[in-house]
Amino acid sequence: METKRRILVTGGCGFIGANFIRLLLAQKSDWRVINLDKLTYAGNLQNLEGVTESEQYRFVKADICDADVMEALFVEEQIDFVVHFAAESHVDRSISGPAAFIQTNIVGTFTLLEAARKSWLSGSWRGNDPRFLHVSTDEVFGSLGDTGMFTETTPFDPRSPYSASKASSDHLVNAYFHTYDLPILITNCSNNYGPYQFPEKLIPLVFHNSMTGKELPIYGDGKYVRDWLYVKDHCEAIVEVLVKGKIGQSYNIGGNNEKQNLEVVTLICDILDKKTGLPASGAPRRELITFVKDRLGHDRRYAIDASFIKEQLGWEPKVTFEEGIEKTVDWYLANQDWVGSVIDGTYQKYYEKMYG
Ligand code: NAD
Ligand code: TYD
Repeated sequence: METKRRILVTGGCGFIGANFIRLLLAQKSDWRVINLDKLTYAGNLQNLEGVTESEQYRFVKADICDADVMEALFVEEQIDFVVHFAAESHVDRSISGPAAFIQTNIVGTFTLLEAARKSWLSGSWRGNDPRFLHVSTDEVFGSLGDTGMFTETTPFDPRSPYSASKASSDHLVNAYFHTYDLPILITNCSNNYGPYQFPEKLIPLVFHNSMTGKELPIYGDGKYVRDWLYVKDHCEAIVEVLVKGKIGQSYNIGGNNEKQNLEVVTLICDILDKKTGLPASGAPRRELITFVKDRLGHDRRYAIDASFIKEQLGWEPKVTFEEGIEKTVDWYLANQDWVGSVIDGTYQKYYEKMYG
């Protein structure tokens, strides 16, 4: 079969990247998918178990900061689409150790942009309609008060080392469009949840702790608000933007599901109590909730106005928060081996097992 597209997905062993590759392999049987991932602590090859045998698929273990590898890969594979997920993604880690965020999120994105520029704008490249889609976050816009929503024109006001590094990469991607005409697209999305999320983020952490009788740490007063989006909806939006989006444009993606952290945590506890019965202690899981010291510089509220992508591309989320959280809890319950191998670190041995 003729290969229509040769797509490089960076960070495809992470949470959203793995969900995205699963969607691509299911939907785009005539695309060649090259997954490049460094396999940091957040990269887990098990996230792609069952789909990696596909002939459409190739895995490359590499660092996006390695310019030689990136440039050679563009030539070797004649890459014409890039979807760039690879990043350090956890705000708490960016507070305790920002250096890796600067390196991967800023230097890594720059390195990837250079590789695309050298390949696509070199004059010898024979493909057409190349596209570089940079996956970013709503956190670049800063923190909202009780009202208002982020639109595509909201000025950047990042406040954590994570969001500052992502904002910086967004600026670089835009600069390559304005300066070199590199065909870029940017998506700024709200908080995702769903299968394969590393259990340091709120939802999978609460699942794991409440299943094992550990405290559920709530930062500050627990009234911080996030706009939650089911990961498959995000992945579908990325495909729409990649294929139909206007070059040079950024698109906000959100779930229209604003929830306070405390609401999210109690809901998960209650669903688990219902599905699995009360724990051995006999006490409802919500009693594990423990208020702890607040995160430094904690952003109060995020909320996305996703009307532009709906008007322009017809995308809107399909999964409500209630459905999505139920599906997510079911997935974690059915995949406790996955959670266990992440917690005990055995997932990191998977590369040797698969690739020697
Ligand atoms: P994740 O931390 O689960 O996965 C990141 C992946 O990138 C891992 O597989 C890791 O091994 C890989 N990686 C890290 N550094 C690398 C490097 N130097 N070279 C190659 N690979 C490297 O992240 P995620 O939650 O899946 O997020 C993916 C992207 O989406 C990120 O860019 C993030 O900023 C963005 N985003 C995430 C959310 C969210 O709620 N999780 C929301 C909006 C945007
Ligand atoms: P998180 O999942 O880390 O995503 P982000 O910081 O990118 O929004 O956190 C979501 C919200 O939950 C955020 O307001 C911080 C809060 N939180 C807790 O209260 N306790 C926790 O243990 C964690 C990890 C997060």
